[in-house]
Amino acid sequence: MSISVRKQAAILASVAALALSPLALSHLNENEFPQSYRQSYFALVGANFSPIGAMLKGEMPWNQEQLQGFADDLSAVSTLNVLRGFPDGSDKGTTRAKPAIWENRDDFAQKLTDMQAAVETLNVAVKTGDRAAIGEQVGAVGQTCKACHDEYKSKDYLY
Ligand code: HEC
Repeated sequence: MSISVRKQAAILASVAALALSPLALSHLNENEFPQSYRQSYFALVGANFSPIGAMLKGEMPWNQEQLQGFADDLSAVSTLNVLRGFPDGSDKGTTRAKPAIWENRDDFAQKLTDMQAAVETLNVAVKTGDRAAIGEQVGAVGQTCKACHDEYKSKDYLY
């Protein structure tokens, strides 16, 4: 399929407009970009993980195709480089990230790697359709969320 020169020009113009005002079109907070970047990442992680748990608990109807979709999206989202959302100085502002993150960067990064590994194993389990195996692995992923949140995330905004 070929697209007309006019259409190409229109696409380029709209891409250029986006580049000029990327933040005006999103909910990313211009003044607290890293904070809102990482919160968006974790919001998507949670939004794809929660329905998997809900299906297991019977709060949502079991649907293997949807389940696989959430597991695949969870895998994809979790591999994004969220560490770039934690630059020095971004422990301030509207955030639940504890200052301990910046004092224990290696440990924090390791806990993130643990989550990514568990998410991959969950994806393998989801492919089998075996509820018990999926349930076990959902628990394992949940443990990795908790391990990091217990140390590095406060329940409330800090500032
Ligand atoms: C390596 C550490 C780490 C891991 C692993 C982790 N989180 Fe978090 N999470 C955080 C931190 C830090 C914040 C707070 C970010 C902020 O407020 O700036 C957060 C925030 C959140 C939020 C709130 C996002 C928002 O809208 O502000 C949700 C939801 C969340 N995490 C879900 C999860 C789930 C589900 C998992 C596991 C699948 C998980 N997290 C694993 C560190 C982690």
